[in-house]
Amino acid sequence: MIKVGIIGVGTVGTSVVNILKDNQEIISARAGTKIEVKSGVVRDLSKKRDLDIILSDNADDVLNDPEIDVVVELMGGVEDAFEVVKRALKNGKAVVTANKALLAYHRYELQELAGDLAFEYEASVAGGIPIINALRDGLSANHIQSIMGIMNGTCNYMLTKMSAEGVSYTSILKEAQELGYAESDPTFDVGGFDAAHKLLILASIAYGIDAKPEEILIEGIQNITQDDISFAKEFGYRIKLLGIAKKIGNEVELRVHASLIDEDEMIAKIDGVMNGISVVGDKVGETLYYGAGAGGDATASAVIANIIDIARSGKSKPMLGFDKPLEGGLKLKAIEEIESKYYLRINVSDKAGVLSKITTIFANHNISIETILQRPSRDASANLLISTHTAIEKDIQNMILSIEELDFVNSKPVMIRIV
Ligand code: NAP
Ligand code: HSE
Repeated sequence: MIKVGIIGVGTVGTSVVNILKDNQEIISARAGTKIEVKSGVVRDLSKKRDLDIILSDNADDVLNDPEIDVVVELMGGVEDAFEVVKRALKNGKAVVTANKALLAYHRYELQELAGDLAFEYEASVAGGIPIINALRDGLSANHIQSIMGIMNGTCNYMLTKMSAEGVSYTSILKEAQELGYAESDPTFDVGGFDAAHKLLILASIAYGIDAKPEEILIEGIQNITQDDISFAKEFGYRIKLLGIAKKIGNEVELRVHASLIDEDEMIAKIDGVMNGISVVGDKVGETLYYGAGAGGDATASAVIANIIDIARSGKSKPMLGFDKPLEGGLKLKAIEEIESKYYLRINVSDKAGVLSKITTIFANHNISIETILQRPSRDASANLLISTHTAIEKDIQNMILSIEELDFVNSKPVMIRIV
């Protein structure tokens, strides 16, 4: 018998308790032993919950319980969760977590602290999709050339609905929160940080690279409007929030941002809360992983897979996939050197000479325009929708600064990278 203590019994924790009960027979058959939740910890004991496990509001009740073999951390956050899992490991317990924010900051320290104890985190990336397993075990014979995909269910759900039904950003964010997809602070979702946390975890497994969120390019979907969505449709693109890791020579490029993708690409067709991640290995070629990226049951499915794995072997794998550091190592590519094609939306006063001044600034920054569209509006302003040939990030950023200074430019230009 394996006894589990869950710290954080909210959306995911409740699903873990329920699935362990609903699927008890098949889970025991696969694990070779019974798995039982002994107790759980929540913040507010007065909340009404439909749960038949012992609950406490003191993490020590789980961490110091000698009968508990596996501590499942589902409380979220970074530093408090770090303290909890450190104490669990110190007390000799295996740990399972779905907490990507914790791993984005502390994964290497946790690998060190775990030593021979199992520390598993399948649910931390792409909810129910077994992407950690695939990358760490299934593709371990390969040099990973790239990882690219939709890693945040909330943003994908929002962008899909905004595009298909024209609904407003605010109402659709509320819906994603009600469905249990969003983080407790949804800025993590819409600001791109949650996808970045996941990308950093995957990059460690793929490349052995220890990068922090502050070191990589992270942008969200807060500025996307129906104008951008209709430009995308007109030019055969879909807008998706993508996480991208690419090995170029001895450098790794890591970035998260809204992207225009050709509508015929498989990733462009992944809609709703679904996530989809393409991983290219030098020997296997392209592999694609698709499934529910958020939601209680899908995420709990991955959490329980980790508990079953621990019940079967009790052993630790190299947590981040490398038994020893890669010789020579790979370096993080500087953000300003990233190359891409770009789309810009510039709101201007609609008057003579505007277009020529704008195109001159593009040329002065070595940026070549591919397409240009002018959308007039009733208030004597117009949106210029411009796409570029491949350019360098620092040139684009400098060009945007120059454009912002023009007196006929009404607001900060919106930029979306074309992938
Ligand atoms: P949630 O619904 O907000 O649940 C969090 C739970 O933790 C609640 O039970 C809360 O107690 C408890 N809690 C929070 N702070 C605590 C503290 N200091 N001490 C004790 N208990 C505390 O969150 P969730 O959606 O289940 O997410 C949990 C984790 O899974 C997060 O790391 C999240 O990023 C990750 N994750 C979530 C999803 C998803 O689709 N939801 C998918 C993948 C990964 P109260 O109930 O009393 O408030
Ligand atoms: N808030 C996250 C998302 C949960 O929407 O993808 C899954 O990690």
